[in-house]
Amino acid sequence: KSCLLIGAPIDAGQRRAGCLMGPVAYRVAGLAQAIRDLGHEATDLGDVAMTPQMDATCDNPAVHSLAEVLGWTAALRRVMAEALPHGFPIIMGGDHSLALGTVAGAADHAARVGRPLFLLWLDAHSDFHTPMTTTSGNLHGTPVAYIAGRSGFAPFPPFPAPIPAERICLYGIRSVDPAEHAALLDHDIAINDMRVLDEQGVVAPLRAFLDQVRAANGLLHVSLDVDFLDPAIAPAVGTTVPGGTTFREAHLVMELLHESELVTSLDLVELNPFLDDRGMTAKLMVDLVGSLMGRKVFDRPTRSK
Ligand code: ARG
Ligand code: MN
Ligand code: MN
Ligand code: MN
Repeated sequence: KSCLLIGAPIDAGQRRAGCLMGPVAYRVAGLAQAIRDLGHEATDLGDVAMTPQMDATCDNPAVHSLAEVLGWTAALRRVMAEALPHGFPIIMGGDHSLALGTVAGAADHAARVGRPLFLLWLDAHSDFHTPMTTTSGNLHGTPVAYIAGRSGFAPFPPFPAPIPAERICLYGIRSVDPAEHAALLDHDIAINDMRVLDEQGVVAPLRAFLDQVRAANGLLHVSLDVDFLDPAIAPAVGTTVPGGTTFREAHLVMELLHESELVTSLDLVELNPFLDDRGMTAKLMVDLVGSLMGRKVFDRPTRSK
């Protein structure tokens, strides 16, 4: 595989400073070399530049940093659509608002090649607010709603080709605000919250979704939020929620994704290196990408998909 590492130093989607150091932390933790050690190519394309869209306004006064988030959305949409024909883009964030742009770019690419786009959202949060329903005003809580085509996103451009609810899988969820909950009841999105994962384990629900992607010959964008992981193993995130996936569960998820051979683009989001403990979260995220790229404890000659 030819991996394209793209830095997206955005922290405008929430209020705590530090996410803009994310791309640097991934470089210091050796992301490119970890990928090369597994026999793949890795090219670091540097950080994306952004021009804020200064004239934009939003009816919800709680929303902040709109000009910056709009600027990042436009820039990352372009970069993702441009990168996908050339390899496997790995976006080094940056807070989760970057997915407003990266998934839009993936949707542009999917339309161009005539294949359906699927979304796997690995996160403690459902991120299903619109700019009109968010009370925090933090736009990192909105990308799934944008991608699913919910209204209330002016002044954002309409999402190019909204992903039908059946092609979206939320996985690891354990924090949903009331307005998000009400809206999710109206959508047929697969919600693998922690209750589901505790009861069924991490494998079966993921396999079921991957089977769907394969049957449709789909493209699969994976958006990995650091808070998907339990805070004990991943402290470097501003929105920790107890009861997250363990080290072993998270690696297993990545190994299954590798074996599926279905993943076509990846976001790494919400890493806040200022909150980290001797780089442990950055290193864990790099190791998880390693599992996604094929690192195995013991390489058996054949594996069922
Ligand atoms: N639902 C909360 C909010 O809207 C938290 C969102 C957290 N999102 C994230 N990408 N970490 O503020
Ligand atoms: Mn090109
Ligand atoms: Mn998130
Ligand atoms: Mn989250």
